[in-house]
Amino acid sequence: MTQRETWATRTGFILAAVGSAVGLGNVWRFPFVTGEGGGAAFLLVYLLFVAMVGFPAILAEFVVGRKTKRNPVGALREYGGSAWKYVGGVFIVTGFVILSYYSVVAGWFVRYFLLGLTDSYAGHLAAYEEAAAGSEEVTESMVMFDTLATGLDSFLFHTLFMALTVGIVALGIRRGIELAVKVMVPAIIILLVGLAAWAATLPDAGAAYAYYLNPDFGVLASEWASILPAAAGQAFFTLSLGMGVMITYASYLGEDRNLAEDGTIIIGFDTAIAFIVGLVVFPIIISGGADPGQETVGAIFFSLTEAFAELGVGRWLGLLFFGTVAIAALSSAISILEVVTSYVIDEKGLERWQAALGMGGVIYLLGVPVTYDLIFLDLLDGFADGVLLVFGALVLMVLVGWIAPQVAVDELQKGIAPLGSLGDVWIWAIRVPLIVVLLVALYLGLVDYVEFLTGDFAGWVAATL
Ligand code: PFF
Repeated sequence: MTQRETWATRTGFILAAVGSAVGLGNVWRFPFVTGEGGGAAFLLVYLLFVAMVGFPAILAEFVVGRKTKRNPVGALREYGGSAWKYVGGVFIVTGFVILSYYSVVAGWFVRYFLLGLTDSYAGHLAAYEEAAAGSEEVTESMVMFDTLATGLDSFLFHTLFMALTVGIVALGIRRGIELAVKVMVPAIIILLVGLAAWAATLPDAGAAYAYYLNPDFGVLASEWASILPAAAGQAFFTLSLGMGVMITYASYLGEDRNLAEDGTIIIGFDTAIAFIVGLVVFPIIISGGADPGQETVGAIFFSLTEAFAELGVGRWLGLLFFGTVAIAALSSAISILEVVTSYVIDEKGLERWQAALGMGGVIYLLGVPVTYDLIFLDLLDGFADGVLLVFGALVLMVLVGWIAPQVAVDELQKGIAPLGSLGDVWIWAIRVPLIVVLLVALYLGLVDYVEFLTGDFAGWVAATL
């Protein structure tokens, strides 16, 4: 066997992991899931979940990856025994499901970027004025989104985005990713902070902050059964946890790295970016008189096109913003396809280009129905985030907490220092409280998903067929 590669630079790993974590989860998914969860009550549960479950979970993936130096399926088999490879198989399936619709949504960002090339956002919105005039509630930005989100446009940009992802993974270009992340993360932060400062001047910014930052514990008490699984799914999705990305990335890691420090940096950037997105989006939505709970998957597009239409330099800001997010989405998409590809290469002996093209092709086809009707977005996203990622994380916790805890603590200590009782705290946190929380979240997530299948989805099928 050839010597397995390791990251070329100390920061290479962090950059790649941040590149995977920061993406559509922060910019597109976070604001609408927070809106659906009632704002601040959701934010609170989400932040607690990231700190108390996300952090131990990212360490668990790092430890399994660095210890075994394998793709997720091989890693679980080596770490836990041969039956565990089936769990690794679930990770691969999760990668298929997530990337299929991720590519469609990323295509929307590319589309909105191109809008800025041809005209101002105000100009584009004006073109939808007539169509929006028919109904009082519907704004130009919503009509525009509905027009672009499905149909030929959507299909073409899904195709383009997936082709790019497959091309990069097939060629195995890692250096390019490190550079892209170095530019993209600071760019996103600067743009978002600027937009948040502008949003603070909007007439209803105060009300928006109250909605986003001041939790109503009454809402929390009555809605926790839907907030908890949604927060769990969002936390795992945004941190790229529960499907083996962090196992894969840590498998290329040297033993001198301090995993706790790296995990803190990755989680810190990811959470900060999502948080600032909320500071941008909610003042715009609420000042525009809309209800953040009703905006669903178009929320970021409605709010930002309106902002870019109003701002003098909006066209350039929009170009920069949508373009940067598209790059962020690309680095996340690459990380997902990399998991699937490295599995096929390691376990089935295919060439890299064959694996990337074959797997990418199937994933692409799975995403095509989303470009036809957004009900398929809910079908795939609900399954991946509500069920698969939570299941993946839960199983990993069982593996690290119960099957081989000592190996995990020994591995974590490398590159830090003897952990003493801290190692026990980590293992015991995983063993009981975290596993219980994840079991509850998984159960509630399943119930929600079955409700969707038998409700909205069955209704759609009945109406369409
Ligand atoms: N974390 C990415 C985002 O927030 O956009 C999405 C993602 C990447 C999810 C990799 C899962 C994953 F394994």
